[in-house]
Order: sequence, then structure tokens, then C-alpha cells
Amino acid sequence: MKILIINGPNLNLLGVRDPEIYGRETFEEFFLELQAEYPTVTLHYFQSNHEGDLIDKLHEAGFGYDGIVLNAGAYTHTSIALADAIGGIRTPVVEVHISNVHAREPFRHTSFLAAKCAGSIVGLGLKGYELAIEYFLSL
Ligand code: DQA
Repeated sequence: MKILIINGPNLNLLGVRDPEIYGRETFEEFFLELQAEYPTVTLHYFQSNHEGDLIDKLHEAGFGYDGIVLNAGAYTHTSIALADAIGGIRTPVVEVHISNVHAREPFRHTSFLAAKCAGSIVGLGLKGYELAIEYFLSL
């Protein structure tokens, strides 16, 4: 089982950025915990602040991996190009948001990606990434 986690813009600042919303743990720390929790899963991690790089990564992984967990950050609410990339690949994608976007500003209530994804997990903190992995393992 090969799963790729992709984080989009500003998620490199996890642990530092708005800790009351996103928590105090860095993604690098959390990723080590995930790898320890799922030793039989080949887990890879990619983060970029650039829309085109996220699209390139989806294309690259989207025909070989068993699952992609994607937190596209603010591109979720703006990017038709990312939605098209998800729609164009074979690997199923689960959308994750750490915060409950529906309880925040109205512009965060819309996801251009959700309809192209197998499902979405929002508001459950970093646990959402774990639940997305559990989903792929259950397939
Ligand atoms: C986020 C929610 C987005 O609205 C925001 O722009 C982010 C993080 C989340 O994980 O809660 O960067 O995707």
C-alpha cells in the first residue's frame, strides 16, 4: 500500500502558524508518528506553496499510488486547476482540512476540490490525515 500525503500553501508553518487553529505540532513531527503507526504502509510526504508544483505531484503520483491525502490549504477555495488535476488522475484522493472550514469565514465554505475527491474530512485536526489513511486501508 502506497499513500502520498500532499500539503499545500502555508502548511509548512504548522506548529507555528495560528496554533490555536492548527495546533502546536509540526507536520514533520506528526509524519514520523504516522510512519511509526503504519509500518507496513509506504507513506510519502510532499509540501509545496506553489499551485503548479502541487498539480505536477498529483500527476506524478496519480497513476501509481493507492491513495492520496490532500490538504490543498487555501487553494481548496480557489483552484479549478487543482480540481481538474484530481479529476484527471486514477488514484483516489481524500481531501483533509485540519480546521473546521465550515465554522470559519464564508470564503472557506466552498471547496472546488470536494466533488472530485472520494471524500472530505474537516475539522478533526491532524487526526484527519490518519482517518484518511484508515479509509485507504479499508478499501
Ligand atoms: C486548511 C483550511 C484552509 O481554509 C486554509 O487556507 C489552510 C488550512 C485547514 O487545514 O484547515 O491553509 O486547509
